[in-house]
Amino acid sequence: MAIGKEKLIVAIDTDDYEKAVRLIDSLEESVEIYKVGLENYIASKGKTVDYLKEKKKKIFLDLKFHDIPNTMKSAVKAAVRDGVWMITIHVSDMESMRQCAQVAKEEASRLNIEKPLIVGVTVLTSISNEDLHDIGCLGNTEEIAIKRAKLAKAACLDGVVCSAREVGKIVDACGEDFMTVCPGIRPNKSDIGDQKRVVTPSEAVKNGAKVIVVGRPITQAQNPVLAAEQIVEEIDSVFM
Ligand code: C5P
Repeated sequence: MAIGKEKLIVAIDTDDYEKAVRLIDSLEESVEIYKVGLENYIASKGKTVDYLKEKKKKIFLDLKFHDIPNTMKSAVKAAVRDGVWMITIHVSDMESMRQCAQVAKEEASRLNIEKPLIVGVTVLTSISNEDLHDIGCLGNTEEIAIKRAKLAKAACLDGVVCSAREVGKIVDACGEDFMTVCPGIRPNKSDIGDQKRVVTPSEAVKNGAKVIVVGRPITQAQNPVLAAEQIVEEIDSVFM
């Protein structure tokens, strides 16, 4: 498989199940990994996950759990039973993160399936330094993302979601084997929407992103297949 295909995750951010299915069908040959987030998961009542499983696609379940340790642990346990490839939780207290990492291991081994990767959201790519300041965080987006990545690693999470702007420093701090998932990706000239810290696909992988998450630049493109294929080619060109 082309390296670009292994590194591209398409975010199916739609509340319309039929539309999600049409998009997955049209991207069938070009995309292997799909992200199902809150909007689609709630609206489709999880049906898109079942559809992707039927199609033997890799699923990134991005529900960004953030709650008390017992609730987070139970949610992760249920998500493991869904047979997904990767799950997000928010980076928060060590206890919640440790329990999530532990339960994922136990449940996957009980079911005899591969353990999904558990990754922690550091700082959303739609958040700016001013936003962090306003909610009382001490430090800028980069400092806080690096600090949270180190905490996630110490709690035995498999990796983090972070901006491709700070991913290099996170790789330096947490090591090459630590999964780095980078959203906020915009191919040159595309509309940035509500994202504030955007990076191009090739810059992101050069900076150290293991995988990139792309939503609107593909899903709202006039030709989503072409948009996805151009991104795959752009990533491939970095490794030539
Ligand atoms: O459409 P766009 O490419 O901006 O979509 C980015 C996706 O990545 C969205 O589904 C969003 O929820 C997700 N995401 C993000 N920033 C994070 C974590 C996830 O934009 N830090």
